[in-house]
Amino acid sequence: MEGRIALISDVDNTLLGGDDALRRFAAWASERRDRLHIAYASGRFVDSILESVAATDLPLPDAVIGGVGTQIRLVSEDRELGDWPSTAGWSAARARAIALSFAGVTMQPDELQSPFKVSCFAYEAAETLGPLAATLRAAGVAATLVYSSDRDLDILPASTNKGTAAVRLAEHWRLSRASVLVSGDSGNDLALFEHGFRGIVVANAHAELKRLDGPNVYHAKRPCAGGVLEGLERWLADSAASTNGAAAAHAAQSIARCGPAHS
Ligand code: GLC
Ligand code: MG
Repeated sequence: MEGRIALISDVDNTLLGGDDALRRFAAWASERRDRLHIAYASGRFVDSILESVAATDLPLPDAVIGGVGTQIRLVSEDRELGDWPSTAGWSAARARAIALSFAGVTMQPDELQSPFKVSCFAYEAAETLGPLAATLRAAGVAATLVYSSDRDLDILPASTNKGTAAVRLAEHWRLSRASVLVSGDSGNDLALFEHGFRGIVVANAHAELKRLDGPNVYHAKRPCAGGVLEGLERWLADSAASTNGAAAAHAAQSIARCGPAHS
C-alpha cells in the first residue's frame, strides 16, 4: 500500500494476550513507523492503556481511544482531541439509576466509571438491552449501549463508541476509510467494523465478532497479535495487488488509446 495508513486496534485479547507474536508485531510496526499511525482503542481508560504500553512490547501509539470511545488522546501531540464526546441529552446519573432498576444489572467498580461512561456487569443479559434502551429513550437520556463478552454493559453518550471515535481520528489524520485497518476480539470492537475500515477479527474472538461477515472483514487463523499481523499482511498484500492491478489497467488503457492513433 502506498502512502500513510493507520492501524486502530483493540488491546486486551487482541494485541495483548499472546506469546512472542507481540514482539513480531512490534518489529513489523517499527519498520513502517514513518507511514503507519498506530492507535489503541480500548474499553480501559487512556492512562491504563499507557501503563500497558510502558510495561509490555506494545509500540508507543500516536493516539489512544479509551473508555470504549469516550476519550481520544493524541499521544504524539500530547493533547486530547477536542469536542469529544458529544453529550447532548446525556446524563450519567440518570443512565446509572435506570440501569440499576433492571434485574441482574450491577455497577462495575468506581474506577471504571466516568462522567461519560456508565459501566455495568450484566451476565448473559442480551435480552435486557432492548428494554433498557427503550427505558433510557423514554426518560430522555440519549445513550448508546455496548455489550461485550456476555458480561460488560457500557452505557455511553449517544453516537459514542470505538467506531465513531475511530472515524473522528481518521478525519483528524486526513485518512480515507480504506487506509484504516482495525482489529478486535469482542463486542465493544463491533463498532470498529461499521465504518468501511478494513477489519481483522483475531482467531480467539468471541462469537459476537466471529459472526461478522463481508468484504471488509478478515478472520485470522491465529490468535491475538499473531492474528493482527496475519490480517495486516493480508490486507496490505491486497492493496499492493490492486495498486499494481490499477497500474497495469492504466498501462493497458494507454496502449489501447495509443493503438488507433498509430495505426
Ligand atoms: C474494559 C473496561 C470496562 C468495560 C469493558 C467492555 O474492560 O474496563 O469498564 O465494560 O472494557 O467495554
Ligand atoms: Mg478485547
